[in-house]
Amino acid sequence: MTPSQVHVAADAGAERPLLRARTPDPCAIVLFGITGDLARRKLVPALYNLALSNALPEDYAVVGFSRSAADAGELAGVLREALGEFSRTKPIDEDVWEGFARRLRVVTGKIDDSESFRALARELGDLEPVTGGNRLFYLSTPPSAFPVILRQLREVGLVRRAPDRELPPWSRVIVEKPFGRDRATAGELNEIVHDVLDERQVYRIDHYLGKETVQNILVLRFGNTIFEPLWNRNHIDHVQITMAESIGVEGRGAFYEETGVLRDIVQNHLLQVLALCAMEPPVSMEADEIRNMKAQVLRSLRKIQAHEVDDVVVRGQYEGYRAERGVAADSVVPTYLACVAHIDNWRWQGVPFYLRAGKGLAKRVTEVSFHFKPIPFCLYGDEAMCQLIPANVLKIRIQPDEGVSMQIASKIPGEDLSVGGVALDFLYSEAFDRKPVEAYERLLLDAMRGDATLFARHDEVELSWDFCAPILERWQTADFDTVPFYSRGSAGPDESDSLLARSGRRWVPLG
Ligand code: BG6
Repeated sequence: MTPSQVHVAADAGAERPLLRARTPDPCAIVLFGITGDLARRKLVPALYNLALSNALPEDYAVVGFSRSAADAGELAGVLREALGEFSRTKPIDEDVWEGFARRLRVVTGKIDDSESFRALARELGDLEPVTGGNRLFYLSTPPSAFPVILRQLREVGLVRRAPDRELPPWSRVIVEKPFGRDRATAGELNEIVHDVLDERQVYRIDHYLGKETVQNILVLRFGNTIFEPLWNRNHIDHVQITMAESIGVEGRGAFYEETGVLRDIVQNHLLQVLALCAMEPPVSMEADEIRNMKAQVLRSLRKIQAHEVDDVVVRGQYEGYRAERGVAADSVVPTYLACVAHIDNWRWQGVPFYLRAGKGLAKRVTEVSFHFKPIPFCLYGDEAMCQLIPANVLKIRIQPDEGVSMQIASKIPGEDLSVGGVALDFLYSEAFDRKPVEAYERLLLDAMRGDATLFARHDEVELSWDFCAPILERWQTADFDTVPFYSRGSAGPDESDSLLARSGRRWVPLG
């Protein structure tokens, strides 16, 4: 039986799910920033594809709050064009689109204008027979707009703090990343949010958590018995988490100048993946049980001391970044980072977690690899020969080629005893006859269901900033007026190899 056959059998179980997803409630989805990049590329295509697969509640409406669109017809035109470009399913089903467009409303206004919010309140009031008064606000705007929007919503009574238990009609708010620029601003933003809403009404998006393969980390760990006994310092030598992109900043130069790789990827996506890989088993799959366990990992991350930053963190910038639109000619913003993180707890003491992320690299790959310890005793020839036996590596491929593989040592056929590494490989595309949905589809539905499991809680966000703080502080000093360059399409700056080489380790090759 091949590994994929095994998983075809597992797929049959999907007809009897272990946890059945709740039907989302009727609601109005209010998009701030509806003509922005994220809404056009991701959010509107996600809503359309949910409509296409009949996953949306029967009664819903989409309200765009827009500075520019004069009416719903004009907005629908802009969004239909974006859909043609960015939908994951094509061709566009015009009947489904028209059904979607009929539910589209627009409120033309400005976020600092109270009258615009009163108009929004009137529109949502008119929709109540359809939506039951439930409202989901999606803040897909620059972060500087979050506090203003939240306060305006409260002023016109569109959001109100939920009592102990969230009763209908509900109001919830999805907040896009980046959540703050550092620990202090994230803390301030959390205060503003909590001033208006209860934590249970806040959905901080990290779209990595919506990816099937990221959710599978927990199923792999806690749906199998064979991994958990090995999942610790006794068996694992080190862990590598890679998020490499071949694209550059793609016209988002001005945004990226403010963010850089640490804020854009490491503080959120990479640390969330790390937390899922390293957390203790929760007592249930309840949102807060899982989030408690993740927060515990983030709390256990060893704080990098200021004097250690240069030793344990490598930066780089791809050649050509400075010529991108919106980027300063002398920018030192890093587009690449590699670093080592230590988790100070019983399970992971002494196991380095190496993280790397960057743009303009050799290929697009996001994966986690668990490198097991070498064999403890050499039965084959001398020690030097035994070092040629590849250690076991469990690789979770988040994207592309979604799947899981395990490298084991195997005899190479022949009279001599030669050993090679071979992979037991499971590929999603072969094992299941359905494609994973886009992360935003899952996350939008979960917010409509009131399930916050795949969203970051306030303490997780702040703890992640705590880990990044010493790096950000060090990089702001005068010593950092230059940045090492790496060629586009390479594996990043050479210094990142040294980070592992000092302990005799090597990155999984990117090429
Ligand atoms: C976003 C970052 O959060 O994630 C982008 O802002 C990055 O810079 C993107 O390109 C990558 O997402 P994915 O899903 O393509 O890995």
